[in-house]
Amino acid sequence: MKKEEIKKLVSNMTLEEKIGQLTQIRTSYYNNMNTSGTGTKSKLNINNNQKWMIGTVLGKLDAAMMIEIQKEYLKNNRLGIPLLFMHDIIHGFKTIFPIPLALSCSWDEGLVEKTARISAKEGSSSGYQATFSPMVDIVRDPRWGRVIESYGEDTLLNSLFGAAMVRGYQNNDLKEEDTLISCVKHFAAYGAAEGGRDYNTVDISEYRLRNEYFPPYYEAIKAGAKLVMASFNVLNGVPSTVNRWLLREVLRNEWMFDGTVISDWGAVKELIPHGVAEDSKDAAELSLKAGIDIEMSTTAYFEALPELCKDKNMEKLLDEAVEKVLLLKNECGLFEDPYRGVSTEKEKKTLLRSDFRKVAREAASKSMVLLKNSGVLPLESNKKVALVGPYANNKSILGPWSLDGDLNDVVTIYEGIKNKNIIIEAVETTPFSDINEEDISKLMNKVTTSDVVILALGEEEKQSGEAGSVSKISLESSQVKLLERMKELNKPVIVLLVNGRPLDLTNIINKADAILECWFPGTEGGNSVADILVGDYNPSGRLTMSFPNGVGQIPVYYNNLATGRPKDLLVNEKRYKSQYLDIPNEPLFPFGFGIGYSNFEYSGLTFNKNKIKRNEEIKCSIKVTNKGKYRGIETVQLYMRDKVADTSRPVKELINFKQVEINPNEIEIVDFVISEKQLRYWNTENQYKSDDGVFEFTIGKDSSSGAMFEVTLIS
Ligand code: GLC
Repeated sequence: MKKEEIKKLVSNMTLEEKIGQLTQIRTSYYNNMNTSGTGTKSKLNINNNQKWMIGTVLGKLDAAMMIEIQKEYLKNNRLGIPLLFMHDIIHGFKTIFPIPLALSCSWDEGLVEKTARISAKEGSSSGYQATFSPMVDIVRDPRWGRVIESYGEDTLLNSLFGAAMVRGYQNNDLKEEDTLISCVKHFAAYGAAEGGRDYNTVDISEYRLRNEYFPPYYEAIKAGAKLVMASFNVLNGVPSTVNRWLLREVLRNEWMFDGTVISDWGAVKELIPHGVAEDSKDAAELSLKAGIDIEMSTTAYFEALPELCKDKNMEKLLDEAVEKVLLLKNECGLFEDPYRGVSTEKEKKTLLRSDFRKVAREAASKSMVLLKNSGVLPLESNKKVALVGPYANNKSILGPWSLDGDLNDVVTIYEGIKNKNIIIEAVETTPFSDINEEDISKLMNKVTTSDVVILALGEEEKQSGEAGSVSKISLESSQVKLLERMKELNKPVIVLLVNGRPLDLTNIINKADAILECWFPGTEGGNSVADILVGDYNPSGRLTMSFPNGVGQIPVYYNNLATGRPKDLLVNEKRYKSQYLDIPNEPLFPFGFGIGYSNFEYSGLTFNKNKIKRNEEIKCSIKVTNKGKYRGIETVQLYMRDKVADTSRPVKELINFKQVEINPNEIEIVDFVISEKQLRYWNTENQYKSDDGVFEFTIGKDSSSGAMFEVTLIS
């Protein structure tokens, strides 16, 4: 449909029909499916006529249901405007990939995009046209349950992977039936909730928003995301849902976003408990004025806009919002084909294809991070193992945002190891907590003839995800107890972690001979764990979120400011410097960290200039030698520090990275080109520019070390 036809359609709509297009309710409203929602329940004040005016729905369905609902809907919608179906397809649909925080540890943009492409093929075949993904909230507090959905603490990685997800979902043309409209969320800075407590207040400077939190949303929009979801949280005093600076000035006027803005679940009516709206009428007026085009899962717009739109200005805002929703439907071809080629046959052929499972296995292997290895890994094939713990043979490894994943499709860790020629002497799936002394003694007796004990430990899925904030981030004490008792047998103990957040591993780090962070690895997780255990895959994952040295250290992240009394500078000052008296400043495992079965050595740093002008480039390189016995992937990381600027700048910022695969005893020269653009930041005059002065560059294997050199930028 052409844009002018859309405008004409809007002019033919009644006020009620227009308001309907701005309202999103659950798909189950149309077929009484009994599915749990992803948020609070609220009474929907719509009558049986208005039900056929609703613009979009969200929630579970399949191809047959979509066809049935759309058919019924079109019979009753006066102007034949089709319904648009949205859903949370976050890291896979039927084929579930590792959680996004895990996927980001692959540092593999192409792989991330591939997972989104597959999700779009599967989700669209089951009748969806839009997904509430990617989430690109910067996260620095592992107490927050939703760190699982993010691409970690770094701005560059969230920007790259968020854009990759958008490309994967939307492909080149949303008229193609196997695409999904992408919704970037949660705008903005939802991950900075105070205390890591979900839905809590966010209060951060514009400096920090501009330099650290905004770029990933901006890059996802530049990649073409057609939907933006406003976040639940207050941002600097004003809830994002009605934050006109955020939604009108920044998003619309500065970034020129011309897509559709949707509230989060119930967020319009939550303006009342937020204390910025008297009642639904107030909430509706403030939301529409701020630029919320679609109200998710409540009906304040239906309740209040008929009255409010007697005011001409409000009716103009209403028409603008309706046009955006109709353009969204037009973008994905719904007016031409309200069913978008969906059929049960096509769905059956698409879901869980073997090639999709293969990508899921590759993604899980590349996402896992080996944190410690005393040499016990990779396992020799004749070793007899005992596999014990809550995740020994547990199918619940998909993560809390895998709404359509089927546990029956999951390969457990036990099944994965069984597929290898490893002798499993014992396998015991234990409770997550309260593993009592007697049971532990029995378990110890069962493992006496094994050469190696593998403990599959971690968190339950419900301890992560939305509304999954916790105050403690260490393993359950009974799981630690299990490890301690197993160590008494004087056998090597390998710990596998299945969890959704960085954990406090200070109480197990010295007890385990090896620790593999598996995250919630998805449908093929067990095979990927086994691939790594036996060396069929040489672990290459690198952390994208710091693992703290205890919960007291939070927030801890690599790109922090130096302070006026840096601990590592004031080496002779015992007390008066920025430190804890009882723990180190450094995390237990830093951003970018990960080990494997190779042994990569860095040497031979080169760089072409000590001084550059703005139109010149710095060329630098490093020699990486694989001194190990295994071919492996190394992620060479390039960090920058702006030594003197308008504002205090981070001690390190990731500005580029390259992955190289090197055979044993071979060398790769990894080179980077640095342009002045990469040295810019949002300064005190609200300009995005670089300063003359000294810049320090570090090339290394993680954020804590590397070869360093300095270059001066001159005018
Ligand atoms: C939830 C989440 C959001 C999700 C939406 C729809 O509350 O905050 O990320 O996409 O509601 O389920």
